[in-house]
Amino acid sequence: MPNPILVLGSSNMDLILKVPRFNHPGETLRAESLTTVFGGKGANQAIAAKQLGAEVALITRLGDDPYGRAYRRYMVEKGLHPKSIFLDKKVPTGIAFIELDPKGENRIVVAQGSNRFLSTTDLKECSSLFKKTKIFVTQLEIPFETVTTGLKMAKDSGALTLLNPSPSQPLSPTIFSLIDFLVPNELEAQALTHSKMKRNHDLPKIAENLLKRGVKNVVITLGSKGLYFKNEREEIWMKAFKVKVVDTTAAGDAFMGGLACALSENRPMREALRFANAAGALATTKLGAQPSLPLRKEVEAFTENP
Ligand code: RIB
Repeated sequence: MPNPILVLGSSNMDLILKVPRFNHPGETLRAESLTTVFGGKGANQAIAAKQLGAEVALITRLGDDPYGRAYRRYMVEKGLHPKSIFLDKKVPTGIAFIELDPKGENRIVVAQGSNRFLSTTDLKECSSLFKKTKIFVTQLEIPFETVTTGLKMAKDSGALTLLNPSPSQPLSPTIFSLIDFLVPNELEAQALTHSKMKRNHDLPKIAENLLKRGVKNVVITLGSKGLYFKNEREEIWMKAFKVKVVDTTAAGDAFMGGLACALSENRPMREALRFANAAGALATTKLGAQPSLPLRKEVEAFTENP
């Protein structure tokens, strides 16, 4: 029986503008289309793990507005428990404005809305979920105090903790010892270690720096270059799967959901990373955050025949 996963994090409505190219300051550009989809790093990672077959709960906060109410209904339909999906009467649902260029690259600006008010009090209300969980996943799109308290509560209940330090921000030194798996992309890894990565050979040093601060395992995702993993005993370099990229939004979230799911099944490290790597790759082949998250059967078919 796989171990239950608890995700703590943001939920946004994503407004995706397909643009012919990114515009310049002061310039007005015509978008080719506008698409509205469910997103937000926390919710994306929870739904990713759920679609891959894991048992998942999500602690998140939406606005009590049309977006928030529709999103909550969808989450419940997807099998997430309503008790930990809070509705905020005072602030609107978070919104991410996403520009997408023809190469599938994006630029994202987030109006945090209700995500800013996901509090430690909310966590206390969900303490029974912490007691049940074996894998805890969080990111940095909600208040830092909530992230830290969540990690502490998860550690106290004996769970394995995963932090995706995105969007990038400095972390307090005390947080590192609460993290079993730190999963930054290469920009986030460089920012956390105040270093500049010139070539792949710099990755072991960057990972070593993070391990010395108390993290148990480091996974640095490298987009089309794959990933680098390191802990005290083992080092793994893995290439990316080759796919036709449509939109890279939420590829990191699909990777996190995949990794959490594989760890919840106690899979060996290399196998868990390959599963996550495939989920991340498949997420780049479709438009949007949650519409692009793959199902388990899709990941399994893809890993057998990439
Ligand atoms: O990681 C992708 C997510 O980042 C998007 O869904 C958007 O909401 C932003 O939070």
